[in-house]
Amino acid sequence: MIDFLGDWKRTHLCGALTADDIGREIVLMGWVMRRRDHGNLIFIDLRDREGLAQIVFDPDNSPQAHKKAEGVRNEYVLAVRGKVIPRPEGTVNTNLKTGQVEVLVSECKLLNRSKPLPFTLDEYVEVAENIRLKHRYLDLRRPVLQYNMILRSKVTQLTRKYLTEQNFLEIETPFLTKSTPEGARDFLVPSRINQGSFYALPQSPQIFKQILMVSGFDRYFQVVRCFRDEDLRADRQPEFTQIDCEMSFIDREDIITVMEGLIATIFREAKGADVKLPIPRLTYAEAIRRFGVDNPDLRFGLELVELSEVVRNAGFKVFADVVAGGGIVKGLNAKGCAAMSRKEIDDLTEFARIYGAKGLAYVKMTAEGWQSPIAKFFTAEEIAAMNEAFDACEGDLLLFVADKPKIVNDSLGKLRNQLARILGLLDKETFNFVWITDFPLLEWDEEEKRWAAVHHPFTAPMDEDLQYVESDPGRCRAKAYDLVLNGNEIGGGSIRIHQEKVQSLMFRMLGLSEEDARSKFGFLLDALEYGTPPHGGIAFGMDRLVMLLTGSESIRDVIAFPKTQKGVCLMSEAPSQVDVKQLRELGIRLAVK
Ligand code: AMO
Ligand code: AMP
Repeated sequence: MIDFLGDWKRTHLCGALTADDIGREIVLMGWVMRRRDHGNLIFIDLRDREGLAQIVFDPDNSPQAHKKAEGVRNEYVLAVRGKVIPRPEGTVNTNLKTGQVEVLVSECKLLNRSKPLPFTLDEYVEVAENIRLKHRYLDLRRPVLQYNMILRSKVTQLTRKYLTEQNFLEIETPFLTKSTPEGARDFLVPSRINQGSFYALPQSPQIFKQILMVSGFDRYFQVVRCFRDEDLRADRQPEFTQIDCEMSFIDREDIITVMEGLIATIFREAKGADVKLPIPRLTYAEAIRRFGVDNPDLRFGLELVELSEVVRNAGFKVFADVVAGGGIVKGLNAKGCAAMSRKEIDDLTEFARIYGAKGLAYVKMTAEGWQSPIAKFFTAEEIAAMNEAFDACEGDLLLFVADKPKIVNDSLGKLRNQLARILGLLDKETFNFVWITDFPLLEWDEEEKRWAAVHHPFTAPMDEDLQYVESDPGRCRAKAYDLVLNGNEIGGGSIRIHQEKVQSLMFRMLGLSEEDARSKFGFLLDALEYGTPPHGGIAFGMDRLVMLLTGSESIRDVIAFPKTQKGVCLMSEAPSQVDVKQLRELGIRLAVK
C-alpha cells in the first residue's frame, strides 16, 4: 500500500546530516539507494540530491517501520521519522559526509514504488551511454550527474552576480529570428501565419547584442541558448548555452580585464581553484608556429620544431621537394618514446593521416645516434642541426611531417595532443588558460572559392590592416580573441565593426552582393548609421566550461537532456514525424517519405 504524505514535513536533506544533529527527531525523504539486511536489523542508504544517510530499522524500536522496510526495493521513495544517533564504534564511514551518524527509524511511509531499474545507478559500473540517455531521468539521479548539474547552476548564479555587479544588464533576445551566421547551418522554423516564410533559430545573439549597444544599453549579458546545425562531437551540441556579453566604449583590454575577473570568480567560488591573473597570451601566429593549432593545450611541452631550412637541400627528396614547392617541414620530439614499437608508430602515422599527412617520418635516438629508415638521406651536419633544433637526447623519438603548412600544423598539432594522452600528461585538476589574439580576419575557402570570416563577419580588422582588406585580404589581422583552457576553446569574441561603410566592405569581401547583404542584414546596416558606439564583446561556451570544471569527458555529462552525435534525444525521441494536418497548416509538403 502506498502512503500519503499527510502532514509530514521534511526537516533535513539526507546528505546534510552531521554529528551536530545527534539527538534530534527528524524527518527525511528520499530514494532507496541500497538495502542491507543484517539479521534483525535492516539498513537503508536513503538518497537525495544532497547525498546519502544511513537509516536503521530495528524491530524492537518500531515493528511497523521494520515491516515496511522488509518490502522495500531500490529506488522506492520513502519518508522516515526517527532519531539521529551516533554510529556504533567501528562503523563510522569517513568517506561520507553523514558517515558519523545514522537515523533510528520510528515511523516509515512508503511514498512510491519503482520498477526494477534497467541499469544500476552505481557510479562504478559502466553503462552504455545510449541506455543512460534513454532513461535520462534515472541517469540524472546518479551522484556524478547530480554534482555536475548543481555545479552548473552555481556557475550560472556566479555569472549573473559578477556581471550584474560590473553593471551589465541581462536582456533577452529572440529565438524566432533571422539567420545570425556563426559558420554553421541554421535550424529553421516554418511560420504558419506567413506561409512559405521561416524563422531561423539564432546561432548566437550576435546581431541583437550589437543593436543593444546602438540603443545605448552599454553593457549587456545573457545566459543564452544557441542553435547550430553542425556535425556533433564530444564538445559540441546542436543546442548549447553561451555566457554572452557585449560592452560599449571599450577596447580589447577592457573586455579581457572584465572577463578574466569573471573566470577567476567562477573558478574560485565554484571549484576552489586559483586562476593566476593576468592570463598569459599568445598571438595566433605564435600558437600555430609552436603548437600547430589555435587552441593549444599548455599543460605540457612537446612543442613543434621548424626544420624547413635545415632540410631544404637534403638528400631526402620527400622533404626537399616539399620545401622547394613552398611547403614546410616540422617535427616534434616525443621525449623518451624511442622504445615505441613498430605498431605504436604505425598507429601514430594513421592518426596523422586523419589530418591529411601523407606520412610520418620518424627517428629513434639511440646511443649510436639516429636509428631510422630516413637516416641515410642526411649528412652529419644536417643531423646535428636537427638534433639541436629538437634538443634530442638518447631515448627520444623524433617525428616529422612535410606538406603544405596547414596540413603540417594540423596533423602535428593534433598528434601532440594524442601523444600527451598516450603519455598520461593530461592532469584534469590543472587549469591552464591562454588568450589567443591577433587572429586572421579572413581565410580562403577552397570549396566555395571565396573569402570567409575567421571569427564572424562583424569582427573589426586591426586599424593598421584596414588598408589591406581589399588589396591583400589574407594579411589582415582581426581584433579577435579566444580564451583557451587545457586545449579547449571556451570563449571567443572581438571588437566589432561600428561603421556602416566598413561593414558593407566586409560583406563585399565575403562575396555577398549588395542586394544579398541588404536582404540578410539590412536592419544591422541601417542601425549602424544612427550613431553606433565603438563596441565589442565575447561569448563563453558554458557547457564546455562546466565540462572542464567537473572533469567530465563530454559536454553531454553537464547538460540535463543532451542529444546524441546524431542529434537525437533518445528519451523523448525527438526529432519525430508530425501529422500531415500540421504540415498542411504550415503550407509544407515533404519531398522525403
Ligand atoms: P563562437 O562561435 O566562438 O562565438 O562561440 C562562443 C563559444 O561557444 C562555444 N560553442 C559551443 N559549445 C557547444 N556546442 C557547440 N556547438 C558550440 N559552438 C560554440 C565555444 C565557443 O568558444 N557571437 C560570437 C561571440 C562574440 O563574438 O561575442 C560567438 O558565438 O566555447
Ligand atoms: P617513403 O620514401 O615513402 O618510403 O617514406 C619514408 C618515410 O617517410 C616513411 O616513414 C613515411 O611515413 C615518411 N613520409 C612520407 N611522406 C612523408 C611526408 N610528407 N611527411 C613526413 N613523412 C613522410
